[in-house]
Amino acid sequence: MRIHGGSVRARLDFSVNTNPLGPPEELCKVLRDICVLEDVLKRYPDYSYRDLRRGLSHFYGIDEDSLLPLNGSSEGFTLALLAFKPKRVLSIEPTFGDHMLACRSLGIESIYIQYREQGDGFTVGEEDLERLEKLCRDPYTIIYMSNPNNPTGAYIDLEKLYSLLDGCRGYAIIDEAYAELCDICPFKPIEPPGNVLILRSLTKWLSVPGLRLGFLYTSSKRVLRIFDDIRPPWNVNSLAECAVSKLLTIYTAKMRGFIERSRVYIAGERGFLSEGLRGAGVPRVYRSVANYILTWFGDKARKTLAGLAKRGISLRDCSSFAGLGEGYLRISIRGRRDNEELITSIRDLLKS
Ligand SMILES: Cc1ncc(COP(=O)(O)O)c(C=O)c1O
Repeated sequence: MRIHGGSVRARLDFSVNTNPLGPPEELCKVLRDICVLEDVLKRYPDYSYRDLRRGLSHFYGIDEDSLLPLNGSSEGFTLALLAFKPKRVLSIEPTFGDHMLACRSLGIESIYIQYREQGDGFTVGEEDLERLEKLCRDPYTIIYMSNPNNPTGAYIDLEKLYSLLDGCRGYAIIDEAYAELCDICPFKPIEPPGNVLILRSLTKWLSVPGLRLGFLYTSSKRVLRIFDDIRPPWNVNSLAECAVSKLLTIYTAKMRGFIERSRVYIAGERGFLSEGLRGAGVPRVYRSVANYILTWFGDKARKTLAGLAKRGISLRDCSSFAGLGEGYLRISIRGRRDNEELITSIRDLLKS
């Protein structure tokens, strides 16, 4: 069964990794306008998403013929299975796990290398990277990784990653769903080698999980054409299509500023929350570059989750992530008042 943050409606939901400053008011305005003034609900989206591609290209500073709009970045992985028909998928675990379900159903083997705990963070060791390099020489293996990684919050330097993946004979998918909210990540996707596909999401930074919009970025025209041919018709709905193309075109500078402000805010609150959680007695609080923090509560995890649920607060139990056992909880970063309430509640529960 699919498990995801946000499945239980909580008063304070720390399980969903969206931008605490979003959605921006400009997006709400554009959505209102297009529904009232433009009858957008009555129209099919543009079959080839010309305006949306132009808007994304303008905003991110990338070639519009190198990107394809998706129904959320997660659609990119499913399309990759159809496009490449791999025999196996290699992932770096623990990571966002929906691809595992699709592989299991389609009889595609899943193999993985592991992030390892090192100090207060997670890294991929040199010997694991060498193993990855060997495994990816097989043209029937595709690689999936999220960078920054969910749930560890770890980040692998892109230059290092691209030079490693350049030697692969199969394709690699780098899921950059959280890049806009990470202060050390490039805002503009960096042109990848021909066998590397970048996925970006509008869900996380705009804080619109229900709108469903992401895109694929590739330097291979051949891959782009295949993805375009196999995507379902009108894969992006007309509200997302119309609102986001307008938002990124009319409010370009404001939205770039919004991302900048969000990055600074998140980095500040991440420091505040990490310190507060350590002070409240959480045994391990891992280093993160993203808008969420992985923690380890050991045998206190279940009791803490239950106690928080009684107070209307939810965290993401990470026991369903491959390679993480019981005791790991992921906490997304929210506004200061909510973060303070969480720290106080956890302090109370760990004391009792
Ligand atoms: C790493 C990662 N990629 C993709 C997604 C889904 O993003 P989207 O809403 O753009 O499909 C998630 C959602 O949790 C995620 O954690």
